[in-house]
Amino acid sequence: MIRSEDFELLCGIVKSRSGLTLSPDKAYLLENRLMAVSRKWGMSDIDGLASAVRGGPNEELLREITEAMTTNETLFFRDQTPFEQLEKVVLPRLLETRKESRRIRIWSAACSSGQEPYSIAMILKGMGSILDDWRIDIYATDISRAMLDKARAGLYTQFEVQRGLPIAMLMKYFQQAGDKWEIDPSIRSMVEYQEFNLLNDPTGKGQFDVVFCRNVLIYLDPPTKGRVLENVWKIMPADGILYMGGAETVMGVTEKFQPVSEHRGMYSSVQGGGQGQARANYASNA
Ligand SMILES: C[S@@+](CC[C@H](N)C(=O)[O-])C[C@H]1O[C@@H](n2cnc3c(N)ncnc32)[C@H](O)[C@@H]1O
Repeated sequence: MIRSEDFELLCGIVKSRSGLTLSPDKAYLLENRLMAVSRKWGMSDIDGLASAVRGGPNEELLREITEAMTTNETLFFRDQTPFEQLEKVVLPRLLETRKESRRIRIWSAACSSGQEPYSIAMILKGMGSILDDWRIDIYATDISRAMLDKARAGLYTQFEVQRGLPIAMLMKYFQQAGDKWEIDPSIRSMVEYQEFNLLNDPTGKGQFDVVFCRNVLIYLDPPTKGRVLENVWKIMPADGILYMGGAETVMGVTEKFQPVSEHRGMYSSVQGGGQGQARANYASNA
């Protein structure tokens, strides 16, 4: 059994570094996940790990503790609707509104092992020559280095490709590599991966027309959710679109975004106290 002072110490580290909040009933989870970190660092139990933490600053150890506590569950085309909306509603509108610059930027802000940004890339690829003279950036970030390595490798198990990925897309965009499936280099090269902590200010990364920030805020407490969403809001234009997970909402968290009522899961940014331009655009388009 983990000692309560060790639980508090380790939770405090995870919370301050990532925003992830663990209630006392999650002690077993912390213990399970941190046993591997303890062993890797030559300690036989969590007690030893906590002592090492108390022993003095060790950035790499603290990073590994934090990373071990992330939940990386994901799948291709998760929840389907956001991806259908992206293809049928959001991208056609952006092709219209961005026809001067011919540039669209999309951010997958907690990309885990890459299924989300690759789903976006496959949609764009499927749009064919219409995008020939366009520059489309898909920027994908996560706090977990292990997940980013997996995403960059683009190698998935049979189980992973059976989750959400239509068979036609598997045949078109993946090759078998031993007992795994490797995503086609033409899709992989459409996504740029980078480590990024959502607690940090993303200003400086430029503006993003569409942001997928899905299934990460559920692990944060309300003030931290608000802080993350305000950070995301800063890098979105007036007609930008935010996607959140099915169990997530902006209600009671921030007033920087409002739901686009005709399109579930889609949020528009609120600029200067008024309704987001996107809200007006997509509402009149419904
Ligand atoms: C459950 S996955 C969601 C993946 C994908 N967005 C989806 O909806 O399928 C949550 C991801 O958020 C990442 N994460 C957790 N805290 C983070 C933070 N503070 N900054 C960036 N990423 C974070 C985790 O590493 C994990 O890969």
